[in-house]
Amino acid sequence: MRLVFLGPPGAGKGTQADLLSEKTGLPHISPGDMFRRAVKEGSELGRKVKEYMDGGLLVPDDVTVGVIRERMLEPDCAAGFILDGFPRNMRQAEALDVMMSEAGVRLDAAVNFEVPFDILVERSVGRRVCRGCGATYHLRHNPPRAEGICDECGGELVQRDDDREETVKERLSVYSRETRPLVEYYREKGILVSVNGDQALDAVAAELASVLRDLAERPR
Ligand code: AP5
Ligand code: MG
Repeated sequence: MRLVFLGPPGAGKGTQADLLSEKTGLPHISPGDMFRRAVKEGSELGRKVKEYMDGGLLVPDDVTVGVIRERMLEPDCAAGFILDGFPRNMRQAEALDVMMSEAGVRLDAAVNFEVPFDILVERSVGRRVCRGCGATYHLRHNPPRAEGICDECGGELVQRDDDREETVKERLSVYSRETRPLVEYYREKGILVSVNGDQALDAVAAELASVLRDLAERPR
């Protein structure tokens, strides 16, 4: 399946993409994760994107589209993918349409994770990520077994640089301005599906699985 995950910062896109990728083997492609890795490695890409990420702003489209275009050409994407956090504005959505038509394929669905705005700040500020493997936790909703230590690899859990409250608020306003219009864009294309992201992690995963099952059974 070729899926786009939409939703505001903190909606649970990355958490659900990880679970679905584990279950299906579909590659989980997140420009945010790719950029954070580049910053950590101190690469040229990392130097280009750091300032934007720290400010909660979108990285320029030419950089983001270039990175995604290259990633989508890798062989593991041939049978499908989960795009988490791309596209994030109309220009990126149009660039993705071009990539899909060049490859002679089409998106199966854009999944919109719906979460009330007032709980998103708490979700992001309470998030902790593993410095080693990138696994995601939440201090209250999804705590690790031992405080500050990753269940998967024993790495140290830290707060993302852009998860301080002021930056989260900026990211939410960028979402409202730039990304939310994509919900209509995909609705008009007839491929929008919605999942209630304001439930326990397992319940969100179950609803997503059911939505994707219905989609697979629908005649095209
Ligand atoms: P990115 O890394 O994509 O951040 P984001 O979209 O702001 O989304 P988040 O990762 O914050 O949220 P999420 O929906 O993945 O939630 P998660 O599952 O972690 O982007 C970061 C930056 O990179 C951008 O600001 C920009 O600078 C740049 N960038 C990225 N893509 C770009 C693009 N296309 N164009 C230009 N620039 C781009 O969950 C959040 C927390 O909630 C976690 O702690 C989790 O444990 C918890 N949680 C998850 N589900 C539940 C639940 N059901 N109940 C309770 N808690 C839950
Ligand atoms: Mg994420």
